[in-house]
Amino acid sequence: MTKEEVIGRMKKNLSLSRIDHIMRVVDTAQQLAERYGVDPERAEWAALLHDFYKWQDKDAYAAALETSGLSLDKETAASQELSHGWMAAEFMQSTLGIEDEEIYYAIATHTTGRSGMSLLEKVIYLADRVEPGRTHPGCEQLRSLAFRDLDRAVYIAMNQTLEYLLKNHAYIHPRTIEARNDLWRNITERKERIEG
Ligand SMILES: [Fe+2]
Ligand SMILES: [Fe+2]
Repeated sequence: MTKEEVIGRMKKNLSLSRIDHIMRVVDTAQQLAERYGVDPERAEWAALLHDFYKWQDKDAYAAALETSGLSLDKETAASQELSHGWMAAEFMQSTLGIEDEEIYYAIATHTTGRSGMSLLEKVIYLADRVEPGRTHPGCEQLRSLAFRDLDRAVYIAMNQTLEYLLKNHAYIHPRTIEARNDLWRNITERKERIEG
């Protein structure tokens, strides 16, 4: 399946505003990929597919998840927000036949992050958060930080997510906490190296 065919498939299940978001994530991911020496082709595939399963029809999505054969933890399986990345990664592997572990995890964990994220995973995580359509408070600063200090930008973005989830009494996936602490460690150790 070509990228154009993938976009055609997405148009059947996603809103126009979602498609626009995806295309802006592709652009931003490619800019970040260039900045940090990540293969732009892999960044494009990951960005293009990341929200492939952000279907509007929740019943159709639940049915697709049910037949996917994915084994997800209970909380991930119960939430489209947490599971749509895993569905898209699986689609890439089984239907498109793309076997690439880094792209797989960049797509699968784009909502939570995870400990030991690769450069590509960080690029996709941030592209999703700072594409030009995002206007939430602090987004401008995060966008400029994303191009100056990748680790710190992902760290700040994760802190913002954690604050939001706490404020809204929402479930926090352990993967997000692990990812945040992993980045905290990287930043702290880096600071110690520079100052020590
Ligand atoms: Fe998403
Ligand atoms: Fe997205």
